[in-house]
Amino acid sequence: KVYRASTTAPVNIAVVKYWGKRDAKLNLPTNSSLSVTLAQSDLRTLTTASCSASYTEGDSLLLNGEPSDVSGARTQACFRELRARRAALEAADPSLPKLSTMPLRIVSENNFPTAAGLASSAAGFAAFVRAIANLYELPASPSELSLIARQGSGSACRSLFGGYVAWRMGENPDGSDSVADQVAEASHWPEMRALILVASAAKKGVSSTSGMQQTVATSGLFAERVSCVVPQHMEGMERAIRDRDFAAFAEITMRDSNSFHATCADTYPPIFYMNDVSRAAVRAVEQINAAAGRTVAAYTFDAGPNAVIYYLEKDTELVVGTFYHALGGEVPGWKQTVVSGLKPSL
Ligand code: DP6
Repeated sequence: KVYRASTTAPVNIAVVKYWGKRDAKLNLPTNSSLSVTLAQSDLRTLTTASCSASYTEGDSLLLNGEPSDVSGARTQACFRELRARRAALEAADPSLPKLSTMPLRIVSENNFPTAAGLASSAAGFAAFVRAIANLYELPASPSELSLIARQGSGSACRSLFGGYVAWRMGENPDGSDSVADQVAEASHWPEMRALILVASAAKKGVSSTSGMQQTVATSGLFAERVSCVVPQHMEGMERAIRDRDFAAFAEITMRDSNSFHATCADTYPPIFYMNDVSRAAVRAVEQINAAAGRTVAAYTFDAGPNAVIYYLEKDTELVVGTFYHALGGEVPGWKQTVVSGLKPSL
């Protein structure tokens, strides 16, 4: 007999960035972070988990059709946490099938336009954890699942919730209070949109895991970021979302991205994720805002050169139109791949 469950998880794009671990094994961050989860139909990972006593190959993972290594510490941590919870259910109710002892087979597919060049670890680990939790019929809340997904990839904990999501850094050494929670539902501010500008679909040079370790170890600016800058940004961002204040949301988003990339440049040797095309997008957003006479667009960059632009539905023409028409052909190296109109996910 084969037991099976499927789920999808959406991507999230941080507006206050996670950058730095205080515990690399448990993926415990040096600061809280906040993101918008983007609608599943546009960008999501679909994962099916199955288990059977007849599976002979041990635990396995197929990622976009390719066999993938499951021996990594992060994947193992997720397996271990989920099995332990299932084993507890089986111990309490001996009539349950002993799924916790069976090999797991995980099949995962991203529907991201490959050109979107988006990191997939967040949606990937969120779907991975939820698929197995569904298979095991665990009575776990999204917050408890976020604690497990965090151990796979930090940012994955935020993809267990829709809408506007905070990952609270917590202070316990065992990570029990380092979990995500929902700041606001998508329906609280449904007009939010995101546009992805692809500067390069190539894989990033320095992985976020190793980049943030180097920043923590060598950047002087980093201490200021985690102790002063981010706490202010978290407070201001939660207020901006509560009040649906786009100008405040945009300013904090752009400042936080700038602050994060400044700590990267202050890492020794320095890390550069943004390139000339990225910087052209920054200038374009400034021009769009100046021409509109109000803030209509906000840029943010993760650990790579691609831009995510947040804007409100009513300003679609102004923002998307400008990027499509005015900027499209003129900036050297610009790829015209644009994914626009992404909405906050439920
Ligand atoms: C710049 O979650 O990919 O996107 O925990 O090592 O897997 P690991 O790192 P990851 O880092 C994401 C960093 C970021 C900012 C963010 O998403 O908050």
